[in-house]
Amino acid sequence: MKAPRELWTSKVAFILAAAGSAVGLGNIWRFSYVVGTNGGAAFVIIYLIVIAIIGYPMMVTEVTLGRKAHKNAIGTFKALAPNTPWWIVGALGVLAGFVILSFYSVVAGWAVSYFFKTIGGSLGAGADFGGVFVGHISSAWTPILWHAVFMAVTLGIIAAGVVKGISRSVRILMPALFVLLIILVLRSITLPGAGAGIAFYLRPNFSDLTWQSILGAVGQAFFTLSLGMGCMITYGSYLSDKDDVPDNAAWIVGLDTAVAIIAGFAIFPAVFALGFDPGAGAGLAFITLPAVFAELPAGVLFGAVFFLLLSVAALTSAISLLEVVVAWLIDEYNWTRTKASVIIGLLIFLLGIPASLSLGAVSFNIAGMPFFDFLDFLQESILLPLGGLLTAVFAGHVWTANKTREAANTNRGKIQLGSWYDVLIKYVVPIAIAVVMLFGLIDTFS
Ligand code: TRP
Repeated sequence: MKAPRELWTSKVAFILAAAGSAVGLGNIWRFSYVVGTNGGAAFVIIYLIVIAIIGYPMMVTEVTLGRKAHKNAIGTFKALAPNTPWWIVGALGVLAGFVILSFYSVVAGWAVSYFFKTIGGSLGAGADFGGVFVGHISSAWTPILWHAVFMAVTLGIIAAGVVKGISRSVRILMPALFVLLIILVLRSITLPGAGAGIAFYLRPNFSDLTWQSILGAVGQAFFTLSLGMGCMITYGSYLSDKDDVPDNAAWIVGLDTAVAIIAGFAIFPAVFALGFDPGAGAGLAFITLPAVFAELPAGVLFGAVFFLLLSVAALTSAISLLEVVVAWLIDEYNWTRTKASVIIGLLIFLLGIPASLSLGAVSFNIAGMPFFDFLDFLQESILLPLGGLLTAVFAGHVWTANKTREAANTNRGKIQLGSWYDVLIKYVVPIAIAVVMLFGLIDTFS
């Protein structure tokens, strides 16, 4: 006998879990370094436009499809379009979950070990922040050890079940993270020389933009909102039919965007004030933020709490990635939750090992980049945009926009989707993604 499908215990539980999925390393680690390597303010503006015209409609669409079918990512497409190949979109999502979580967990492991480094005092004033970071990620054992610990916890929570495991952790985390980020912003913007960083973050220079960076903005929008791979379909599938979609989606998108924008104000003023390079790449947050903590009274305390919160934020995102794969095996192959969590968690851990090693311990390049960067490139430039594009075509043209809109509006709260939604999901979203992907990939490989 199969246990009945779990449902979120309350409206708030869903918003918290979905926002917990969205808010993660993407908002702080990934957002800051892609803004930094793509020239700053102009990229931020494109990113915000993408959030509004692609991100919100896609969020509504994925949650609606999931709530309608009450199935995993693959099962949802099978249920809504039986005997068609559309389930492949869900399969692409499951694959993306695999790929993303493998390197995501490695970065989450960095955050955990930075918690201990902060407490241990190796990140105090005058430390070589860049050197510590490079030393850490390029060593062989420690990052893999923390990656293992992080995957073990992720797997444990998912084995315990969605509602129990997920809802609890997010309630405390989100407000605490917010408060801590605000403290960081206040310190960062009052450092002497912070003005140049604020200008970098707010004063756009559109000649900096390339197709590659616009594709990067689309990829970042999908990544940070957990879209394009059936994650929000899966979370939406645990909503009851009586729950609202459009308002919830607005909350999730709004919270996630607010955290990213605030994180930028914590990081960029400090980058310029303390003489770091905004284009430093994947280490930006890990190099800059410890330097800001070193400038704060009781910096060790704040730093430790911050990296702890960042680790938990990463955890609530990681569980949503693993849940996509696990829910599929439970629904479609009748695996038990424990079996699916353990086996898949282990496989993802294994894929993370070469990703971590490729950052310095071992030379392992694919398509001219370290394996770690290749995995990130694969999800950002191909898997998520393609998944989003196909999901939009499905909702807009196959299941049809009319049906999707009506399903989304059923038991809605304040926001009502109008014909604007149809125009976005049928034309604007798919065409924009297709154009950006095409030119972005040409740009990347030429
Ligand atoms: N959104 C998370 C972050 O910003 C990462 C994440 C969780 C994700 N689930 C996802 C990314 C699904 C893409 C797809 O850290």
